[in-house]
Amino acid sequence: MSLTIIIGGQWGDEGKGKVVDWFTTNYKPSVIARFNGGNNAGHTVVNGKGTFKFHLIPSGVFHKGVKCVLGNGMVIDPAGLIKELKELHDKGVKTDNVLVSDKAHLVMPWHFLIEEAQENYRGKNSLGTTKKGIGPAYSDKAARTGIRFSEFINKKFFLERLEEVYKLKSKELKAYGKKLPSQKSIFEDYCKFALKLKKHVTNTERLLRDAQERREEVILEGAQGSLLDVEWGIYAKVTSSATTRLGVYQGTGLLPLQNEQVIGVYKAYITRVGAGYLPTQMDKKTQDLIRNAGNEFGVTTGRSRRCGWFDAPLARYSAKKNAFTEIVLTKADVLGVLDKVKICVDYKLNGKILDYIPSSEAEFNRCVPVYEELPGWGRSTSNIKNYKDLPINFKEYCKRIEGLIGVKISIVSLGPSTHQTVVVS
Ligand code: IMP
Repeated sequence: MSLTIIIGGQWGDEGKGKVVDWFTTNYKPSVIARFNGGNNAGHTVVNGKGTFKFHLIPSGVFHKGVKCVLGNGMVIDPAGLIKELKELHDKGVKTDNVLVSDKAHLVMPWHFLIEEAQENYRGKNSLGTTKKGIGPAYSDKAARTGIRFSEFINKKFFLERLEEVYKLKSKELKAYGKKLPSQKSIFEDYCKFALKLKKHVTNTERLLRDAQERREEVILEGAQGSLLDVEWGIYAKVTSSATTRLGVYQGTGLLPLQNEQVIGVYKAYITRVGAGYLPTQMDKKTQDLIRNAGNEFGVTTGRSRRCGWFDAPLARYSAKKNAFTEIVLTKADVLGVLDKVKICVDYKLNGKILDYIPSSEAEFNRCVPVYEELPGWGRSTSNIKNYKDLPINFKEYCKRIEGLIGVKISIVSLGPSTHQTVVVS
């Protein structure tokens, strides 16, 4: 296998960072690449060097010699990237292998201001975004008013482009009653950023295609989850990038030329942050239990995540959208705090079982979950090393999920550390 694609099957926060780290340790890829999003993502990796929270840099950065690519499909806040590079550097982690696509887009100061103004303007209908400028940066990319890293690292080209875009953005912000910092101060700040980042910027699509042609191992690290995809997610409470497998090709330049291993990462329950209906939302008491046991607080925003029961209709939908070849079930240990567990096996709409996920959010919001109740295992499993030693009810739970999604679970994760990972045998 040479392309391993790791994708969140739910609404993000499935524990992909740890899964990427596990696959990197075991597969020894030459490259790990991100293809979507920006620092709206938050990945936690716990290893021998400590606990690390990444927003932009792929989780494989600890592995010697592995190139870590921030692909062309990303939108990157240069100040955020510099901060992450510095944190790693200060902890003795080498960052020479962090490479940024020269076609990736910049997050600019106006993106934060526009997002804030739009969210305020929406009032009770706000999306609950991460306020990292992601939506406005992707909007500018589509509107042909974005700025690429290739321009950013060349002072002359950057100034030309900035002059053109600054005028438009000042006008736009005026309509919201907001004022931009001066063009001069933005130019000066961004030139300082460019000086620090220039050595990391390169033609990453060539690097990736060369690796693909040489059949080297390449890992693709998805950010957010499939249900947040701008095309295939539960629109409009989505992020602005392509979060599914389809985003890989557009966001890196790789092509679907060979057999791929496509790993769907699902939590054993489900969480959602920001606005939008969570059909299987648990009652308050159970949510509090799960939130605390699973530390369900955003890595990027610190917001508490809403918790729900495993939602098989949505899981089936995302498995089909990505053609997952296997599943990694994460945070299964967390459910050990309960004596009984529920799974949503179907949705009902107007009294009828659905065999599809509605395209309209208004219809989705009216879907009613149909539950099955299973006995829990009511104990901690976080120190178990072999699948055969897991409680029988735990294994039955996994089997039921496999049956409902139609894809095999190959790995279960029983805690945040890389070693708390059990291969299903
Ligand atoms: P944005 O990506 O900041 O524009 O936010 C759009 C929606 O996606 C909001 O509901 C966010 O809470 C959600 N979102 C964005 N990134 C993540 C993530 O990494 N995990 C979970 N939700 C996310």
